[in-house]
Amino acid sequence: MLHSKKVLVTGGAGYIGSHTVVALSQAGYEPIILDNFSNSSATVIAALEDILGKPIKYYQKDCCDIKAVREVFVKESIDGIIHFAASKAVGESVEKPLQYYDNNINSLLVILKLVKEFGVNHLVFSSSCTIYGQPEKIPVTEETVSQPAASPYGNTKKICEDILKDVVVSKAGVKIVSLRYFNPIGAHSSSKIGELPIGTPGNLIPYLTQVAAGLRDKLTVFGHDYNTIDGTCVRDYIHVTDLSDAHVKALQFLERDQTTDLYDVFNLGTGAGTSVMEIINSFEGITGITLNYALGDRRPGDIEQIYASVDKARSALRWQASLGINEALMDAWNWQKSLTNGYE
Ligand code: WQD
Repeated sequence: MLHSKKVLVTGGAGYIGSHTVVALSQAGYEPIILDNFSNSSATVIAALEDILGKPIKYYQKDCCDIKAVREVFVKESIDGIIHFAASKAVGESVEKPLQYYDNNINSLLVILKLVKEFGVNHLVFSSSCTIYGQPEKIPVTEETVSQPAASPYGNTKKICEDILKDVVVSKAGVKIVSLRYFNPIGAHSSSKIGELPIGTPGNLIPYLTQVAAGLRDKLTVFGHDYNTIDGTCVRDYIHVTDLSDAHVKALQFLERDQTTDLYDVFNLGTGAGTSVMEIINSFEGITGITLNYALGDRRPGDIEQIYASVDKARSALRWQASLGINEALMDAWNWQKSLTNGYE
């Protein structure tokens, strides 16, 4: 019997990682999770097994610990890697830059050293649209020049992309793609997995659904005097299920490619921008809930508007987003309602 290709998913118990584990398994791969559960929960493993109806192999290890991670490579013959494991809170990265540089860069270096040692030649890296900063021209293409990072978090993603490019130039015999996510939102349609922000959510959607659930008093709209359709910030919100499907397509793109050394980057968005007020109005429209919100001051570090050109991913990855804002907001709301005490 043909064995499924084993794909190591670092950070596989996290928000995008867990949804990608579902997509990988349903595409016939054997996902193997490596996660230290520092920003996720082991309960996600059981939820994944519930969704997939089969056991999911996982290793609770720190991605920065090369000795511990090497044991996984020795035990499992890994065919490909999707590297999500990283710290990802923009605000926190400003307060704790060393923690972010240490964790996000060293975890990638560990993976790259083991990729070389064990001859794994397909790597998909989780990057971010944050590296574009506030682009002069939108939609942004992959050729849009990245601006100086507005946060240590964004800078770690830029540095990691440069490291990946240099490794490929060194003819290490590895093929790598960096996927630049725009704003992932929503949850799996089963409401068994979703975003699990620890503490006060920094991101819009989890904060909004906690207000709608009565767990928080009011949503503050950060800024309403921007030069946008209604004065509030515009982002490219992409359903996490579409985003996770793109990771499978990225792996298949690497498998199709016949070269020995390849590096490429892809924007993963919907190609459309939505303002904060449009999100609020859509949520109220589909749920019938009146959200308690107030128009407040701008949040330092926010960019005014960004959304993706997705032509490259559509043609090379044979992928495009298919779920809309309303579906993502409804899935996010159903997930919020499924959380027993509202938070986890
Ligand atoms: C979206 C919009 C806020 C909260 C971040 C990271 C980025 C990526 C996606 C990892 C902004 C507004 C928010 C609130 C609000 N993550 N907002 N009230 O900042 O676009 O991107 O998440 O890769 O790297 O930077 O997402 O959800 O924080 O904000 O008005 O209570 O919602 O001002 O305009 P952001 P966000």
